[in-house]
Amino acid sequence: MEIFSLKGKVAIVTGATGLIGQYHCKALSEAGANVVVTDMDIDKCTALSESMPTKSIGIACDITKKIELYSLLSDTISMFGKVDILVNNAAINDMVEIPLNSLDESKFENYSLDFFRKIIDVNVTGMFLTSQVIGSEMAEIKSGSIINIASTYGIVAPDQSLYLDRDGNRKMYKSPAYPTTKGAVISFTKYLAAYWGKSGVRVNALSPGGVENRQDEFFIQKYSERTPLGRMAQPDEYMGGLVFLASDASSYMTGANLVIDGGWTIW
Ligand SMILES: NC(=O)c1ccc[n+]([C@@H]2O[C@H](COP(=O)([O-])OP(=O)(O)OC[C@H]3O[C@@H](n4cnc5c(N)ncnc54)[C@H](O)[C@@H]3O)[C@@H](O)[C@H]2O)c1
Repeated sequence: MEIFSLKGKVAIVTGATGLIGQYHCKALSEAGANVVVTDMDIDKCTALSESMPTKSIGIACDITKKIELYSLLSDTISMFGKVDILVNNAAINDMVEIPLNSLDESKFENYSLDFFRKIIDVNVTGMFLTSQVIGSEMAEIKSGSIINIASTYGIVAPDQSLYLDRDGNRKMYKSPAYPTTKGAVISFTKYLAAYWGKSGVRVNALSPGGVENRQDEFFIQKYSERTPLGRMAQPDEYMGGLVFLASDASSYMTGANLVIDGGWTIW
């Protein structure tokens, strides 16, 4: 299964120390890549990089700041000499287990412009900037794989009935910002795949479904009932798909959206 091997490859993962990002790093490293673990907090990045089975490094970078992205690129090149894989994973998500707004603030009619802009700034503009700075280096050497992490909520609308408690009281509304940005990630992926197709850089999206993560029992039950496979995902269930997209196993694939959602979007 040599086509899945990432031996000798160098991968950058943004938002690397978050819930799923850690497993992206683990997957790429276990497949043989050297991993640049990047997120906002340098201590967490360093700690995670030291747990990787291949030589890896932690670098702090705010993806909304182009100057920090240039440092990320130059530090990567000084350390490993090149970059082959970019996983655009960093995002702000208003998860039910970590709500960003009060119930009243989360209502569409009240949703603040500041929040809307902030989420677009990280989830869309940050991805654009990271792809511009890091991806241009790949296009220059005519080789690379970019994986943009989207979401089921970039394909279908949030089912707001999930955010009710057992007694029918509403806990929150899923924000209008998050799905808007994830739809944009899928469109941006197609744009860049077409733009860089002849430059040897493949660009694909990976759309995860909801990961079980300290949500209350009722939410997990409702989410599971709504999912054809009857459960939420575990955070390591995107590892196989990620290695597939990063490696030569997907050499004829670009502009696609690999949906790994337990069937959430099929009905
Ligand atoms: N958790 C889920 O159920 C789920 C479902 C579908 C899609 N996703 C997507 O998967 C990806 C990872 O999600 P997660 O659940 O691990 O989220 P998370 O919140 O645990 O991790 C996101 C990471 O992004 C980082 N980040 C935020 N702003 C940043 C910035 N400006 N610069 C650099 N890093 C920044 C955060 O520090 C954090 O570590 C996201 O793109 C998310 O939209 C998650």
